[in-house]
Amino acid sequence: MMFKHLFTAGFLGTFAVLASASSPTKCRCLYGQSCWPSDTAFSQLSRNLSQPLVHPTAVASPCYTNPSSASCSDVKAHFTDALWRPDQPGGYQFQNFESYIQKNGTIDACYLNVTLGFPCKQGSIPPIGVDVRSPADIQAAIRFAKANNLKLVVKNTGHDYQARSAGRGAFMVWTHHMKNLTYHEAFVPSGGPPQAASSAITTGAGDQWGDVYAFALQHGRMLVGPFSLGGSIGTAGGFAMGGGIGAFTPKHGLGIDNVLQYTLVLADGKIVTANAFQNTDLFWALRGGGPGTYGILLSVTYKAHPSFPVSIATFHANLTSDSVAQTILTEALRKIVPFTDLGWGGYMYIIKPNLFNGLWVAPNVSQSVLAKALDPFGAFLNLTSGGQGGVFYNTSSSYYGWYDKTFLGTSGSQVTGNILPASRLLSRELALSNPAGVASTILSANSIFTGIEMILGGQVNKIDSSSVGVNPSFRHSVANVLINERWADGISSVAIAQQIDMLKAHTKTLDGISTDSGSYMNEGSLFERDFKKTFYGSHYTALRNIKFKYDPSSLFVVANGIGSDEWDKELVCLL
Ligand SMILES: Cc1cc2nc3c(=O)[nH]c(=O)nc-3n(C[C@H](O)[C@H](O)[C@H](O)COP(=O)(O)OP(=O)(O)OC[C@H]3O[C@@H](n4cnc5c(N)ncnc54)[C@H](O)[C@@H]3O)c2cc1C
Ligand SMILES: *[C@@H]1O[C@H](CO)[C@@H](O)[C@H](O)[C@H]1NC(C)=O
Ligand SMILES: *[C@@H]1O[C@H](CO)[C@@H](O)[C@H](O)[C@H]1NC(C)=O
Ligand SMILES: *[C@@H]1O[C@H](CO)[C@@H](O)[C@H](O)[C@H]1NC(C)=O
Ligand SMILES: *[C@@H]1O[C@H](CO)[C@@H](O)[C@H](O)[C@H]1NC(C)=O
Ligand SMILES: *[C@@H]1O[C@H](CO)[C@@H](O)[C@H](O)[C@H]1NC(C)=O
Ligand SMILES: *[C@@H]1O[C@H](CO)[C@@H](O)[C@H](O)[C@H]1NC(C)=O
Ligand SMILES: *[C@@H]1O[C@H](CO)[C@@H](O)[C@H](O)[C@H]1NC(C)=O
Ligand SMILES: *[C@@H]1O[C@H](CO)[C@@H](O)[C@H](O)[C@H]1NC(C)=O
Repeated sequence: MMFKHLFTAGFLGTFAVLASASSPTKCRCLYGQSCWPSDTAFSQLSRNLSQPLVHPTAVASPCYTNPSSASCSDVKAHFTDALWRPDQPGGYQFQNFESYIQKNGTIDACYLNVTLGFPCKQGSIPPIGVDVRSPADIQAAIRFAKANNLKLVVKNTGHDYQARSAGRGAFMVWTHHMKNLTYHEAFVPSGGPPQAASSAITTGAGDQWGDVYAFALQHGRMLVGPFSLGGSIGTAGGFAMGGGIGAFTPKHGLGIDNVLQYTLVLADGKIVTANAFQNTDLFWALRGGGPGTYGILLSVTYKAHPSFPVSIATFHANLTSDSVAQTILTEALRKIVPFTDLGWGGYMYIIKPNLFNGLWVAPNVSQSVLAKALDPFGAFLNLTSGGQGGVFYNTSSSYYGWYDKTFLGTSGSQVTGNILPASRLLSRELALSNPAGVASTILSANSIFTGIEMILGGQVNKIDSSSVGVNPSFRHSVANVLINERWADGISSVAIAQQIDMLKAHTKTLDGISTDSGSYMNEGSLFERDFKKTFYGSHYTALRNIKFKYDPSSLFVVANGIGSDEWDKELVCLL
């Protein structure tokens, strides 16, 4: 997502000099430039591949070609469908991930509403890519990108909030069709001793969580995965390498804490296995060093846990005044440390002006135990909001059973529109010592939407911070607090710049709930003051050393990724 252009374009007052326009040694070659490979070169590449090349376009483009066509009707029917979008090579979850802002402020995008009066443009969608189905396809794509000095982008589902799976004029490796689920009753990491065996599931580069949950349950298992409509998030991208949070992270640790093995293709085309017994530095770095940075994953093997019944408490209240909001949020925050330490996970949302709701999921706990813990909170919510609040309980024989009924059937309105998130990790110490201060800071950050993901703490806090590459901040944090800005299609780049300024101001306020400005990169802001500290903390230097050991020529570069500060804002030219 190229909002960074606003800086070079001067909207925020900095008329930066454009980095060395097209020096061939310093800059990657983009589509449209004279260095771009010829059609003949692409057709030669194509002979080395198992599938024809793909030409990703904006999902709304058929509605510009012919608004009354069947393909336009199809687009309209599925436009907000979180699972349909990843099936399109050019489909991203939100409009702004695929848009691009020119230096002069013109926005290149392709909006569904054709009467807004803008042409349909390619924006940040890579114009050509490889529909990879095998390790050999990925190796061929890497070889071609290197030989032609192309900007390489890896995309599976297009969920990435920092648009790390998009890139204007880039060459795409599209992993969506590399699906391959394997259940192992006793998985031994390659090179490990038999006593290292545990039950596990290996997923391919293109697998998505909804399918994995269903597959795991067939074997009486559950995995630590995310929470999204349709189960559309990928298993081998941001989640697998950026952290991974979900309802059961307090019980079983982060997604990356549950990875037993990765296989990947490196920048030199070699296929390697990284686990606790081989390539251990890479194994450490992949678990938190970020996606699209060290290589292209072919598979990830996650530890599988026994499935268990769950009890669920959903709660809500009307925040009828500022003081009621402060009182309710303070009380709600007091639950986080004790509940996550029991292995319970929860989410709560404040949606302006006065909506408050959320849920707690308690693994392998009866409804009566959960009710005993939360009945007083329910009574408090009802009383404080003048009868407009309370708690409801439910149970399910498995988490997946409940999740499936509640979220997977819905295509939902979670996707579509334009969004920019920012987040901060809530300090365990502050949550315990000063919940009223934390509540006041969160409310004064004043976001239209605040999500308090109460899914750290517990086991996440027990794991030694040096054991994996992920930001050590996770180990002393109990929640991820997410805010965002949203806007309608068609607003000007000046108006977008104002949204970015607001996001930055809100992020600055939210800093007060952390002790180290830590943030979860997969729900983080493109506009951080100090991305190294915020997303990687004290692990940055070690992560960087490993990055350059395995990818010395920086084939893999993503926004706010390890070593990305050595590139210009567009990640095209070395500084
Ligand atoms: C609606 C929504 C809900 C979310 N809910 C959660 C949640 O509950 N928990 C959570 O932890 N996160 C959540 N996220 C954040 C999510 O983890 C990130 O968006 C993540 O980057 C998605 O990864 P992906 O592979 O599906 O997406 P993509 O956008 O396709 O890829 C993301 C990144 O991974 C890289 N990548 C993809 N495949 C590979 C590969 N094979 N090898 C190397 N790099 C690769 C891409 O280059 C890109 O940098 C949510 C996001 C959205 C939009
Ligand atoms: C196709 O593969 C061959 C053999 O690996 C290689 O020499 C050649 O450069 C490849 N061609 C393209 C266009 O990638
Ligand atoms: C803005 O820049 C783009 C790319 O150079 C160009 O195509 C477009 O015409 C310009 N728009 C205006 C209004 O100057
Ligand atoms: C499309 O845009 C036009 C012009 O701004 C507006 O009048 C119309 O309501 C929009 N349609 C939809 C479906 O949003
Ligand atoms: C699928 O995964 C299994 C287990 O990881 C592996 O042995 C097999 O080769 C994979 N199949 C394909 C087609 O990649
Ligand atoms: C659930 O709890 C019971 C005891 O209450 C225990 O025997 C069982 O092993 C637990 N199951 C899981 C999957 O943790
Ligand atoms: C919440 O309370 C306010 C103030 O009493 C009221 O105006 C508003 O309608 C209520 N909202 C809902 C969703 O009931
Ligand atoms: C909230 O309190 C009112 C009385 O003030 C009662 O009628 C209602 O049932 C309560 N709701 C819940 C969910 O407890
Ligand atoms: C409890 O879950 C069942 C099954 O998903 C659902 O039908 C029911 O409406 C839920 N009850 C409440 C109070 O949410």
